[in-house]
Amino acid sequence: MKIVIIGGSGRVGSNVVRRLEAKGHDAVAASPATGVDTITGEGLADVMAGADVVVDVSNAPVWDDDAVMEFFTTSTRNQLAAERDAGVKHHLAVSIVGTDRLPDSGYLRAKAALEAEIEAGSTPYTILRATQFFEFLPQIVEAGAEGDSVRLSTGLMQFVAADEVAATVAELAIAAPVGGRVELGGPEALAIDAWARRLFAATGDQRTVIGDPHARYYGTELHGGELTTGDDARIGTIDFDAWFATQSDGVVR
Ligand SMILES: NC(=O)c1ccc[n+]([C@@H]2O[C@H](COP(=O)([O-])OP(=O)(O)OC[C@H]3O[C@@H](n4cnc5c(N)ncnc54)[C@H](OP(=O)(O)O)[C@@H]3O)[C@@H](O)[C@H]2O)c1
Repeated sequence: MKIVIIGGSGRVGSNVVRRLEAKGHDAVAASPATGVDTITGEGLADVMAGADVVVDVSNAPVWDDDAVMEFFTTSTRNQLAAERDAGVKHHLAVSIVGTDRLPDSGYLRAKAALEAEIEAGSTPYTILRATQFFEFLPQIVEAGAEGDSVRLSTGLMQFVAADEVAATVAELAIAAPVGGRVELGGPEALAIDAWARRLFAATGDQRTVIGDPHARYYGTELHGGELTTGDDARIGTIDFDAWFATQSDGVVR
């Protein structure tokens, strides 16, 4: 199958490309780095020609509320229009678990809008909602940095390894469209401040972690398990220790 991976140069995207190529598919990485821009439309019609499946694992370059909303809605509309012209039979996009439960977050609102565009479109689709990636944990922690401490939400997070997200994307891409959502989360849900303590213990970071129920996560307070998976979710097997062991040079990315 010809499978176009929008965002194919990214963390998840490049992993998906490798996995699909290993299964003998014609996996085409598409992003500005390869001359395909879903916002300007550059290269989009050409790369979609003859494609059976489009996988969207792109991310917005700027995360301000308006910019991220503009990115995900325009990008999705342009992809769907090009797919219609090319006769693409399956659109698979990666979204976020709980994206419609936290409307105070501009990023999560934009992901909910992306999902609505897909549902309103005519290409048969699958939406994979993933929880936060372990690879994103250091960035989440640094967002709470205050001198010698970090102040973080006590809301729950269920980190999953990006490698398991990529494996699930690659599996779903070659299956029939679900016509709905699939959820994927990591094996353990913990408060964000507890995750930070675990990360600091592993990296030797001496800063104090302050759990604050009112600390915001990307613009929103968390009151509990808004970002955790529901009953029918797929659950990954890579836990913190297994993930951390893969960070072989000691630099957490
Ligand atoms: N981080 C998390 O915890 C988390 C959790 C759940 C879901 N997700 C979702 O997972 C997806 C993948 O995340 P990631 O960390 O793998 O992303 P990433 O490494 O930041 O990669 C982003 C990709 O988007 C591409 N891109 C940017 N602008 C584009 C445009 N105008 N047209 C086409 N492609 C464009 C980039 O291409 P260039 O390299 O060419 O610029 C790059 O390939 C995202 O949609 C994200 O929302 C993330």
